[in-house]
Amino acid sequence: MAQRWTPDTWRGKPIEQVPEYPDGDALDRVEEQLRRYPPLVFAGEARRLKARLAQAADGEAFLLQGGDCAESFAEFHPDNIRDTFRVLLQMAVVLTFGAACPVVKVGRMAGQFAKPRSSDTETRDGVTLPSYRGDNVNGMEFTAEARRPDPDRLVQGYNQSAATLNLLRAFAQGGYADLQKVHQWNLGFVADSPLGERYRDLANRLDETLAFMAACGLTSETTPQLRETDFFTSHEGLLLNYEQAMTRVDSTTGDWYDTSAHMLWIGDRTRRLDGAHVEFMRGIHNPVALKAGPALEPDELIRLIDVLNPANEAGRLTVIARLGADQVERLLPPLIRTVRREGRTVVWVCDPMHANTVKSANGYKTRHFDRILTEVRSFFAVHKAEGSHAGGVHFEMTGQDVTECVGGAQAITEAGLSDRYHTHCDPRLNAKQALELAFLLAETLKEERVLERGRAAALS
Ligand code: PEP
Ligand code: CO
Repeated sequence: MAQRWTPDTWRGKPIEQVPEYPDGDALDRVEEQLRRYPPLVFAGEARRLKARLAQAADGEAFLLQGGDCAESFAEFHPDNIRDTFRVLLQMAVVLTFGAACPVVKVGRMAGQFAKPRSSDTETRDGVTLPSYRGDNVNGMEFTAEARRPDPDRLVQGYNQSAATLNLLRAFAQGGYADLQKVHQWNLGFVADSPLGERYRDLANRLDETLAFMAACGLTSETTPQLRETDFFTSHEGLLLNYEQAMTRVDSTTGDWYDTSAHMLWIGDRTRRLDGAHVEFMRGIHNPVALKAGPALEPDELIRLIDVLNPANEAGRLTVIARLGADQVERLLPPLIRTVRREGRTVVWVCDPMHANTVKSANGYKTRHFDRILTEVRSFFAVHKAEGSHAGGVHFEMTGQDVTECVGGAQAITEAGLSDRYHTHCDPRLNAKQALELAFLLAETLKEERVLERGRAAALS
């Protein structure tokens, strides 16, 4: 029998990874203020995303989720929002062609500020201070002043999210997302890439397809689907004081929705069954996701699914596996089999970033392009072997030309990491690396479809 849920029942549960605000009254005031602010997204939009994710669970759509590890106040600039949005669109076009199905685009944007940390404190030269937990909690600078959690940062985070979302909506609906234009950008990428030859074939076929469609009268002037797109937002639902304040009753259905983003996820460090984060997420009606790290046992996953999606509603729950390039082949099959045996429907998504983080010889937290690619390919291969659907991918990436992950056609080296290492938290794929990855994955997806068609023809 399910316990009663209200947006504040999480407060009675054990909680991890949240700051201790020195001034509780100031926090109360901010929560009250946020409760009166307008919703950032609407329940109907969250329901639309859920329906799209239900298709991804069935193999009829593919999720592309990506963006910063942590958005920051300092890097808040229209060009940064535009560039990340643009790369996501470029990747989506390539993946649509490879997977031959609609790609659901979800940004880690417009609210992805709060970070779980492996340690509560950080020590430098004998001085110990609270860890940096994201710009909506405290500042990155290593001073006692900056590291003190400040609830007013939640308001700044809200405002930045609102302005970011406003621009994203304009880009998505106002002509910027025109398929022809996105394709032209991709041709530019192929022309400039040192490995361009490899991607030219796919780009040419897309070119021909678009020319054929235009000849049939399907252009962005005649067809809104070619000039507009759906774009959704997501972030880790970590700061429950903020999430609760943004949670409202939808007047159409009477259900509770967290209006801070279309989709929220529970991090790998805060997914304990009896914890506050699972308690909060079980009651909101948004699509939610669960990060699944190497320590997650199949039985525990089923218990979490029972709590987070008791009605087994397709599209409600996405499992984002982040198991590591070396471990995915061993750890993913038991999870898939158990979920199937129990008759549960989830969207299986691969995050090839979070279990492939290493320290470079010169001290940078980095990730190798090849390991990232290997984890996604293995993830696809496991799903194929298990006869289940690989529903999508989840990347930490940016539209900027940063040097945070090593490898790729640009061949970023460990020594080169210091050139433009800007991340506030984890290393991101830069624009070229992200797009390159999309081309390589599209190739894999396409080959699989060709093989499948061959098998089907042989059987008929
Ligand atoms: C993240 O997505 O930035 C993150 C912290 O992930 P995880 O919970 O999987 O470690
Ligand atoms: Co991260």
